[in-house]
Amino acid sequence: MTKHKLIVGNWKMHGIIPEASIMIEKLKKELGEVKKTEVVICPPFVDLMSADESVKGTNLKLGAQNIFWEEEGAFTGEISPLMLKGLCKYVIVGHSERRIYLGETDKMVAKKAAACVRHELTPILCVGDSLQDFAEGFSKVTILSQLQAGVNLLTSDEVKKIVIAYEPIWAIGTGKNCTPNKAAEVIKDIKHTIGEMFGKEASDKIRVLYGGSVKAKNSNDYFEFPEVDGLLVGGASVDHHEFSKIIMGAEKHEK
Ligand code: PGA
Repeated sequence: MTKHKLIVGNWKMHGIIPEASIMIEKLKKELGEVKKTEVVICPPFVDLMSADESVKGTNLKLGAQNIFWEEEGAFTGEISPLMLKGLCKYVIVGHSERRIYLGETDKMVAKKAAACVRHELTPILCVGDSLQDFAEGFSKVTILSQLQAGVNLLTSDEVKKIVIAYEPIWAIGTGKNCTPNKAAEVIKDIKHTIGEMFGKEASDKIRVLYGGSVKAKNSNDYFEFPEVDGLLVGGASVDHHEFSKIIMGAEKHEK
């Protein structure tokens, strides 16, 4: 089964409204032909409409950085799956910055992932160990418990369509990326756990990305490991030179 690489750019809280389209236009100009690699850009919510115009006629896709699990109601400040449907295909859920700064729990993340799937949006469910977990040897326990809790409300048919991102907190925005070898090992553990919970088909089909200080200078090293299905890129995705190099590197590795 051929799985094409998935490269996701998480702009985080960058991109004041006119900048979003400018950033995408610059990326479009710089990109060579991308036939196989799937590329997703996740701008802030308010940029999604203009980004939607900018990606028309290209094979760039859009994602949101968050979602709420209810369809509508008195939930001030939240954005529902119905509002995102039609505008984007992917949604990042459970990013460590939301877990840390906004108090998102595993239960909330599970509800968000389930809401996505039930509205035909693909969640990119983030899991990751802290520096303390890493130092104390608890990385695997933390990662797999976040994973099990996050997919808890999904069926095996649903789980095979989602994306998981392994993002060690100690690697995010620090310039200290997790080595490709180690990331591949964790991704294998994640797929193994999915297999135990949902069966072989789910573990074969689910896509698992690595994220954390991915730059053009290290991105190609991850593609040497077939278990790494793609990359979730933060800082380097708002720089069109860097991001296009990462994408073209992935495209070169496609068979
Ligand atoms: P970074 O962020 O690439 O800037 O380390 C990755 C992420 O948080 O998704």
